[in-house]
Amino acid sequence: MNRFLVASLSLAGALASLPAAAQFQKPEDAIKYRQSAMALQGNHLGRVFAVVNGRVPFDPKATADNIEIVALINRLQFAGFVEGSDKGGNTRAKPEIWTEKDKWNAAVAKSQEDVNKLAAAGKSGNLDQIKVAAGAVGQSCKGCHDTYRKD
Ligand code: HEC
Repeated sequence: MNRFLVASLSLAGALASLPAAAQFQKPEDAIKYRQSAMALQGNHLGRVFAVVNGRVPFDPKATADNIEIVALINRLQFAGFVEGSDKGGNTRAKPEIWTEKDKWNAAVAKSQEDVNKLAAAGKSGNLDQIKVAAGAVGQSCKGCHDTYRKD
């Protein structure tokens, strides 16, 4: 094989094994991505909680829309925690995210499970179900922040 072919094959291999990392040029980009996603998610979950806490009247369609946005962003945000982005920017992510992979993945899975239940409750249009499911989501957000986010 000529050298060019060897080089491009190994590059293709590296890209295939690092699909998430390849989307970010620098650690700072990954950090900005996940912080923006988390912030947006927090905003839309806040709108759901405003209804749950009775501060805003219950509009089933608007609430379901906000929940769908939370669910979509929840699927995206964890892609921002790529290897090598434990430092850089103004990250508050703790290094344990990358050293306790199994526990971190379990926290991610728990969050996604709770958000999926909230999405189902949102579609049902039943406020009592939404209240219960939103409470669980709030707990899994907080649980992960307590463990993996610096104050
Ligand atoms: C599996 C862990 C985990 C889960 C679950 C999680 N977060 Fe986070 N969140 C983090 C980490 C880590 C950071 C710090 C990221 C950084 O600074 O690089 C963060 C940061 C944030 C921030 C601050 C963003 C900023 O502007 O810097 C908000 C807001 C936030 N999360 C909201 C939420 C909400 C709402 C949920 C639940 C729907 C949630 N998070 C679920 C780990 C998690």
